[in-house]
Amino acid sequence: MAVRKDTIFERFLAPVVKTFLIDQEALRRFYESIDWQAASTRLSDPTLVYPTYYSSQNFHGIEGGYLNVSAAVSYDPITQYALPPGEAVVRQSFVDAIQVKPRRILDLGCGTGSTTLLLKRAFPQADVIGLDLSPQMLVVAEHKATQAELEIQWRHGNAEHTGLPDASFDLITASLLFHETPPTASQAILQESYRLLTVGGEIAILDGNQKMLRQTEWLTQIFEEPYIQAYAGGSVDAWMGAARFEAVQTQDLWWLHQITRGIKPLPYQSVEFTAGATNVEMGDRLWAMS
Ligand SMILES: C[S@@+](CC[C@H](N)C(=O)[O-])C[C@H]1O[C@@H](n2cnc3c(N)ncnc32)[C@H](O)[C@@H]1O
Repeated sequence: MAVRKDTIFERFLAPVVKTFLIDQEALRRFYESIDWQAASTRLSDPTLVYPTYYSSQNFHGIEGGYLNVSAAVSYDPITQYALPPGEAVVRQSFVDAIQVKPRRILDLGCGTGSTTLLLKRAFPQADVIGLDLSPQMLVVAEHKATQAELEIQWRHGNAEHTGLPDASFDLITASLLFHETPPTASQAILQESYRLLTVGGEIAILDGNQKMLRQTEWLTQIFEEPYIQAYAGGSVDAWMGAARFEAVQTQDLWWLHQITRGIKPLPYQSVEFTAGATNVEMGDRLWAMS
């Protein structure tokens, strides 16, 4: 089925273009170069059930939130203005803050894949998966990866319960996801991340600076984000601790953003200590459990 190109473009994208001084022709060419219906269907998991907090909300004032083409097409042109002092420097600082040398990376709420592509560039040997609830956002992500000749898997899924195997990643990232999810969902995503990480694996979260957002409520109104005030009132640090991550640290990034990192620790608590077992035997047992 053909997408009603003119209607969507004129109703949603043209006003965006005017407001943000975006190259209208380039946006239109990109929009018209993709068969959105076919590509979204190909990338969709038809069994996926959308969480209500996601499907019942408009994001950034766009009806239907991320589950439509206009959100996907306008996301990158707008985001370049939403990450001062510059999108490239903020995303690269996030990737540079990663401490592990990962072999398998999962980028949760990957959206149009801007961070996912940087991760693949930084760790070219790693297998990289980008996961998102919006097939339309995944269409843009796939398009960008193909243009950049980067091999990345795109997966339609809910970060709260991905269906991926235990201990299958050594790096999990989420950039600009948690200000868009209610705190209960963010905490469920952290618990799922703990399950998915190998022992010693790292989680890294880039998002708005919660301390700063608490002091500038007017800013939280600008982008029409339904959950950003709840996000601002919480603490990613505390949520990470509650999900059992250790060595949790949050660093401010250009005042407006923050990066929080944590490690999945060895399961000290659950190992059974046997009388007479040597340190080496206990160490082997811990690693076998990991
Ligand atoms: C603001 S965008 C961030 C996209 C990208 N990570 C970036 O840095 O530009 C938030 C993304 O999270 C996705 N999302 C929200 N809740 C999600 C969930 N529970 N599971 C997976 N993706 C989710 C949305 O569809 C959207 O693409």
